[in-house]
Amino acid sequence: MTNLICASCGKKYPTNYKGYKCDTCGGLLELRFDAKFPMEKIKKRKPTMWRYREAIPIESDENIVSFDEGFTPLLPIVINKITVLVKQDHLFQSGSYKDRGASVLLSHVKEMGVSEIVEDSSGNAGAAIAMYSAKAEVKCEIFVSDETSPAKVSQIAAYGAKIRKIHGSRENVAEAVIPETKEKYYASHCYNPYFFHGTKTFAYEISEQLGWKTPDTVILPVGNGTLLIGAYVGFNDLLKARIVKKIPKFVAVQASNCSPIAKMFFHYSERLPNTKTTQTVAEGIAITKPVRAKQIVDIVRKSGGTFITVEEEEILRALHVYSKKGYYMEPTAAATMAGVQKYVDKMKTNELIVSTITGHGLKHAEKN
Ligand SMILES: Cc1ncc(COP(=O)(O)O)c(C=O)c1O
Ligand SMILES: [Zn+2]
Repeated sequence: MTNLICASCGKKYPTNYKGYKCDTCGGLLELRFDAKFPMEKIKKRKPTMWRYREAIPIESDENIVSFDEGFTPLLPIVINKITVLVKQDHLFQSGSYKDRGASVLLSHVKEMGVSEIVEDSSGNAGAAIAMYSAKAEVKCEIFVSDETSPAKVSQIAAYGAKIRKIHGSRENVAEAVIPETKEKYYASHCYNPYFFHGTKTFAYEISEQLGWKTPDTVILPVGNGTLLIGAYVGFNDLLKARIVKKIPKFVAVQASNCSPIAKMFFHYSERLPNTKTTQTVAEGIAITKPVRAKQIVDIVRKSGGTFITVEEEEILRALHVYSKKGYYMEPTAAATMAGVQKYVDKMKTNELIVSTITGHGLKHAEKN
């Protein structure tokens, strides 16, 4: 049976539970769900992330909120004579991979009959949630920082969502939203496990595009870890179903100016550091207090992976280099590519590497 479960105390909740964390101990919620992969059916379906229908925890097809998203191209890019496969997740309807999570989360919102939601975001998750809310006809309010890229804020407003601009950092925004969650459903991409059961389709698609194989290494950006955790859930689903034989090595990229999880990893610490973070052009991963930090460190360590931190100059260089090759991305996405460059520079063995471009350049055009 599908249910929510507290990762700290084990308390179970029905899937229509409206809280965003455990009401007994405050722990993070996970979703217990048995993903199935009927291959013959999957092969015959449209190339969208919903082709893995039986692996996505939405009960009724009527509730699916979709723009036929997913199945983004996996393109080869040659770096230092090594071919890296790069998933083009900036090509989603809202311009970032967050559509994967938002499609499943808004389908769940519809399935529960919820009519009003609230969310906080560095911009892209907010845009995706606002877009799917528009399609689902759900009233939506998005909290953003007054430093968020204007293009992202305009996009959220264009979908008809109400915008609440909060002065200061991403953390101020995350704090400001909490009182609102008493009245309205908190459709959080960081807390809500349904979001991760959307981002996990990233792993399914990569495996299918590789002929149902796992790459050796995946190199992913990490702020709150919604793609990294989702990808881990996805590869695990495939492993459990005996479709693939292993979990890839997870390499997480953070901006040096804001790398609290990398610090935890390298210091073998259980807690986020108290050290101050500074601004970075990679606004999507500028997260000082990610709520799932420990989970991210555990995944990276268990997979035999590591963290890479990238300097501002390296991010801007990658942005320039890949634009000149025809890949137009926002700086947050360029941070990942800078991380890929660093990884390949030091690589000693021959590995099949997959990475991704997570956000479109038009998201940040006025600042590039
Ligand atoms: C373009 C882009 N890439 C990567 C990320 C990182 O995602 P996460 O914070 O879930 O790790 C974000 C988050 O907003 C983003 O906007
Ligand atoms: Zn609990």
